[in-house]
Amino acid sequence: MNTLSPFYPPEAKEEVRARIDIVKVIGRYVKLRPAGQNFKGPCPFHKEKNPSFTVSPSKAVFHCFGCGKGGDIFTFLMEIEGLTFTEALQRLAEETGVTLRPVKEQGQSAVRDRISKTEALAIHELATRFYYDRMKKSPEAVAYFKSRKLRPELVKEFRLGYAPAGWSPFIEYAQSKRIPVDKLSACGLIVTSSQGGKPYDRFRNRIMFPIFDLSGKTIAFGGRGINEDAVPKYLNSPETVLYRKNRVLYGLHHARPAIKEKEYAIFVEGYMDFLSLYQTGIQNVVATSGTALTVEQGQLIQRFTSRIVLVFDGDSAGIAAAERAVFVLAPQNLDVRVLILPSGEDPDSYIAAHGAESLLKKITAADDSVRFILKRAMSMYDVSTAKGKSAIVERILPLIQATSDEIMRAALIKEVAEQLDIREQLIYGVLAKKRLKESSSTQPERDPTAEQFLETEEGSFLHLIVKEPSLIALAQKHISTETFTDISTKNLYSLIIDTYTREKSLQKIIDRTDNNDIKRVLSLMLIKDVITDNRHEEVSHKVKRFLLKFNKQQMHEITKKLRMARKPEEKKELLYKQHVLSTQRKELNSGW
Ligand code: GTP
Ligand code: MN
Repeated sequence: MNTLSPFYPPEAKEEVRARIDIVKVIGRYVKLRPAGQNFKGPCPFHKEKNPSFTVSPSKAVFHCFGCGKGGDIFTFLMEIEGLTFTEALQRLAEETGVTLRPVKEQGQSAVRDRISKTEALAIHELATRFYYDRMKKSPEAVAYFKSRKLRPELVKEFRLGYAPAGWSPFIEYAQSKRIPVDKLSACGLIVTSSQGGKPYDRFRNRIMFPIFDLSGKTIAFGGRGINEDAVPKYLNSPETVLYRKNRVLYGLHHARPAIKEKEYAIFVEGYMDFLSLYQTGIQNVVATSGTALTVEQGQLIQRFTSRIVLVFDGDSAGIAAAERAVFVLAPQNLDVRVLILPSGEDPDSYIAAHGAESLLKKITAADDSVRFILKRAMSMYDVSTAKGKSAIVERILPLIQATSDEIMRAALIKEVAEQLDIREQLIYGVLAKKRLKESSSTQPERDPTAEQFLETEEGSFLHLIVKEPSLIALAQKHISTETFTDISTKNLYSLIIDTYTREKSLQKIIDRTDNNDIKRVLSLMLIKDVITDNRHEEVSHKVKRFLLKFNKQQMHEITKKLRMARKPEEKKELLYKQHVLSTQRKELNSGW
């Protein structure tokens, strides 16, 4: 049965990477010239006149400052030749003379195709019932719903369930119904290990959210760890014959009538946020489930309404997600509004604290997307200077360009001009110049997120310690991963610490992640210089600022809790915590 692509052990990758000469391989595609410790050349991924494509032999990474692509030699070959990882590995192994020994694998992708949609739907229905039934029998799960204030009718309506702890309760149940393991695997409900071990349930000890298609049939699941320390907090079904995650909005089947009636749709990020709104009667809502909003999701909602309000968390991740969503949706001529909640709140917690009325009021008063982007840009640059204005226009430009409706575009330009106190003609001029430039060269698929990230406080801090790993110990001593609220910052920080702790160097850090976005950020950090006189001082300074910020957040939370606290001993404990935090703050402020 093995026509499937083989799976090689991770050491093979390490070995190939250690032997390969990255400059030589990339040099076959790009004319590279030495530039200091690095090599530079015209980027093969986008058209450019001045070379911004950089290869670092010592770090074994590449990065293009023009289009943002970056990674290691495997990423390079995959992108340029359109290879899969395995193909890239095989090719480089051959070149370096490394022998690849495949691990026996029950290949998943091919199995996935061996199931019909009808079969897959039947299995998902079976699973939905199984998890629902187990939830009924689990006092812990029932208590969880209660603690999250989800009423039993809602749990029933959304068929929320519980996947029991233990490695194989679902497999055993499904087998008692004579469903073969490879079908379960094709549905993504179980995991077959690559080492030929026993298959096990994908979802264990999790609260289950069935994801429905537009006719209300289960096509996938999201599972939330019932314990707060579960890793990952949420686990979703992989893509299957039924499920393309780009094309799904959680809750749309239920929300449809309300969206039609209210003539707009509210977008939230989380399952819990969705349920919380829906339960309080705000039912014209869908959830993006924490992934970046896609063009396909925009097209999907178009079928029901052209008005959207994004209601996202007030942390930096939420704001960034909202901003990205606005740009993604811009070409679709939707009326997009944005509501960013106060820092530390998500829609669910906001309703708990302030009630649904208050949320609805904010929703109806949400900024339109242009104003939102403009406000953000205006808070980032100095509006009183010409340089600042120019930077702001530059930032808004993609939005203007993406707005295909002429009238909307004119209104947008007018608004920007007014806010910045410049002539509209000026913006039209910049726009025309840009168009000219683009028609003479093909437009690169620019992904500036890595560079933008390096400009943030968190990003520049991580950049510093990546460049100067001897400072990692200092950072680690004061800053735990919990200090960062943004999930990618948190992940990147743990990756840095973890790699350094194990290997005493960051040489192979790129190898230790499969996430392309993280690879891009890392390749940029490794290649780009940090401009500072004193790295040590800079890191201490930043550490202190994070600690202060974290202190403030905690103080905020405790004050909130204190307001709600009823029991004297609870109050006492909170007051003590408050005291500790305030002492800590004083110490931080008085220098250390
Ligand atoms: P609660 O903590 O239960 O209130 O959930 P939440 O929805 O508020 O969580 P959060 O704001 O952290 O995340 C929003 C959404 O992102 C979740 O509903 C998930 O769909 C998704 N998400 C969060 N964490 C993870 C994760 O670790 N992995 C994956 N795949 N998705 C996640
Ligand atoms: Mn939440």
